[in-house]
Amino acid sequence: MNATIVLLPGDGIGPEVVKQARRVLEAIAARFGHKFELPEYPIGGNAIDSCGNPLPDETLEACRNSHAVLLGAVGGPKWDDPSAKTRPEAGLLRIRRELGLFANLRPTKTWDELLDASPLRREIVQGTDILFVRELTGGIYFGESGRKPHASGEEAWNVMIYSTGEIERVVRVAAEAARKRRGKLTSVDKANVLEVSRLWRQVAERVVKTEFPDLEYNVVLVDAMAMHLISRPRDFDVVVTGNLFGDILTDEASMLPGSLGLLPSASIGSTGPGLFEPIHGSAPDLVGKNLANPLATILAAAMLLRQSLNLETEAKAIEDTVSRVLKAGHRTKDIAGGGPSIGTTQMGDLVVAGLNS
Ligand code: IPM
Ligand code: MN
Repeated sequence: MNATIVLLPGDGIGPEVVKQARRVLEAIAARFGHKFELPEYPIGGNAIDSCGNPLPDETLEACRNSHAVLLGAVGGPKWDDPSAKTRPEAGLLRIRRELGLFANLRPTKTWDELLDASPLRREIVQGTDILFVRELTGGIYFGESGRKPHASGEEAWNVMIYSTGEIERVVRVAAEAARKRRGKLTSVDKANVLEVSRLWRQVAERVVKTEFPDLEYNVVLVDAMAMHLISRPRDFDVVVTGNLFGDILTDEASMLPGSLGLLPSASIGSTGPGLFEPIHGSAPDLVGKNLANPLATILAAAMLLRQSLNLETEAKAIEDTVSRVLKAGHRTKDIAGGGPSIGTTQMGDLVVAGLNS
């Protein structure tokens, strides 16, 4: 197969982890006889510095014309000035929107070999396997916003808005996924307070009852979900929710397996290339120290091969290799629990070597 996979290393540890994922993709191409073009383009803070724009036109164009996109991370203290004209994060939000990536898939699975890395007790987290499907191009992230003068200074607002169509399509993605897993779907909202959540609940229920009657379906309020996630995470299979709730719940859920450094994510639309990335950020404190865990990005590359290129065997080869490397006891600092650890590059070396053996 010939495929173009655009790499967007971004800021902070982004370039370090994407470099290891590139080596893994090259190893896959060599082993399975594919030809991958892997061009790199700027996004985020470095793109603001070099082009004055967190998502330069050439970057967007290249992504549109690719088969899939692999992103590192964006943002950092250098671009945090609240009065700045633009921010690195604006580049990420815009690329999601421009590519129509309305569904963000965040699998959260505990690894038996890493149970002690979790801040929660082993008997609570063991066996957790949740797929979050977060709506990604709507809701309060993209609603109208503004500021105006107020007697006390100013007031500011962001509107949370969802249409029937936006809810239907993301619920369908989640329901299809649930069918291929354990057949359970949970929709999370705040329908006891928010009108937008009442519409969400009504539409989600109709879609599931009419199109997916085979699923075991329930609804949970977002505040209760925050609690259930750390008291009985094993009870959930697929969880679908809006943009803001999904952002918050997936960070919380990342602590179940113990480290952000292991969690990949996929953002997909109805057509066109998907965008794959680790769920962690740019980790400014780790930059340039060869400390970052590249496994989340390497696992994101596996998701990319599976979802965008239909290369199941290749995706599985990466996932199995990562599993073997962890089983053999190799750890980057974030998952070493104070024990001996290896660096970003060494972890990449081990995965590449494992793929070649
Ligand atoms: C995420 C991140 C982004 C978000 C930021 C960087 C804009 O937190 O992907 O979860 O809020 O969506
Ligand atoms: Mn987030």
